[in-house]
Amino acid sequence: MNAQALIDTARRLVSDDKGLLAMDESNPTCNRRFAQLGIPQTEETRRAYRELIVTTPGLGKYLNGAILYDETIRQRTKDGVSFCDALSGAGIIPGIKVDIGTTDLAGCPGEKITEGLDGLRDRLKEYFQMGARFAKWRAVITIGGDIPSTGCIEANAQALARYAALCQEAGMVPIVEPEVLMDGEHTLQQCAEVTEDVLRIVFKQLHAQRVLVEGMLLKPNMVLSGLACATQATVAAVADATVSCLLRTVPAAVPGITFLSGGQSGELASARLNAMNMRFKSRLPWALAFSFARAVQQPALEIWRGEWANVVAAQQALLHRLRCNHAACRGEYDAARDGPAV
Ligand code: 13P
Repeated sequence: MNAQALIDTARRLVSDDKGLLAMDESNPTCNRRFAQLGIPQTEETRRAYRELIVTTPGLGKYLNGAILYDETIRQRTKDGVSFCDALSGAGIIPGIKVDIGTTDLAGCPGEKITEGLDGLRDRLKEYFQMGARFAKWRAVITIGGDIPSTGCIEANAQALARYAALCQEAGMVPIVEPEVLMDGEHTLQQCAEVTEDVLRIVFKQLHAQRVLVEGMLLKPNMVLSGLACATQATVAAVADATVSCLLRTVPAAVPGITFLSGGQSGELASARLNAMNMRFKSRLPWALAFSFARAVQQPALEIWRGEWANVVAAQQALLHRLRCNHAACRGEYDAARDGPAV
């Protein structure tokens, strides 16, 4: 393991107030989003959509990295350029999702465990050769009744830590993503308590597996009121609760925290990230940035709808959300005009 190379990559991924784009939807997830908009669900439409993204002019102004999926990393633009090369050419580091999804956790009704450790060492070697320099693994934690259970949190945290150690062995920066879902009636306070527990256990496992925290990134949920909770926390309350939770649990040596959006609208995700940076940036040990999928892509996907004629307009919509989030990383997003403050 070349520790300095890992540290350099991890720092680059969160430098200059830029973020990451998650464009690593598995085929079933991508197909589900296409189906909702009447877009045919084929390998070619998935390729064409990802080509639209990676060929967006100016993408590198707002992104340090983009996360691909196994099918996508093997695909090319219609001009024959691999997506990894297209991204690298735009100054964007290619990354790869390496978990293979979730399944029911035995003995824990309503809870999930993420799979993908078997054979991971060899898959990482192949992805590295293809140009990927960082990876992602997502664990899912649900709040409800008497869950999450300790068994679920610990099993997922251990898998995240084993994945992270394997990534670093392969020279790739692990993005560690424990997602506490926003579905449910839970309050902001309940989300804060669960997220704090989860992050504590995740970092304990990362330490046990000897993961170099300077050479990794954390991709957490923001601390939010459940979607079905009657009282929705304000943007400022979300920012306060999220930053308090992270300060209690994330070592200062971690270079950056790149949030998932988790189903928030593009505007709310930008506003909440902005509030955190506006209020706390100068006092935080790590960069607070974004690694959104839906909150960046959804407007572009709705414009594209699988039509060639809509590509340029969709690319503009994608750039707009990225510009907003770049401003949010500096605490300079203006929610009223949904754009950078002038
Ligand atoms: P969302 O921003 O849509 O939650 O996706 C982020 C992600 O990469 C989930 O693994």
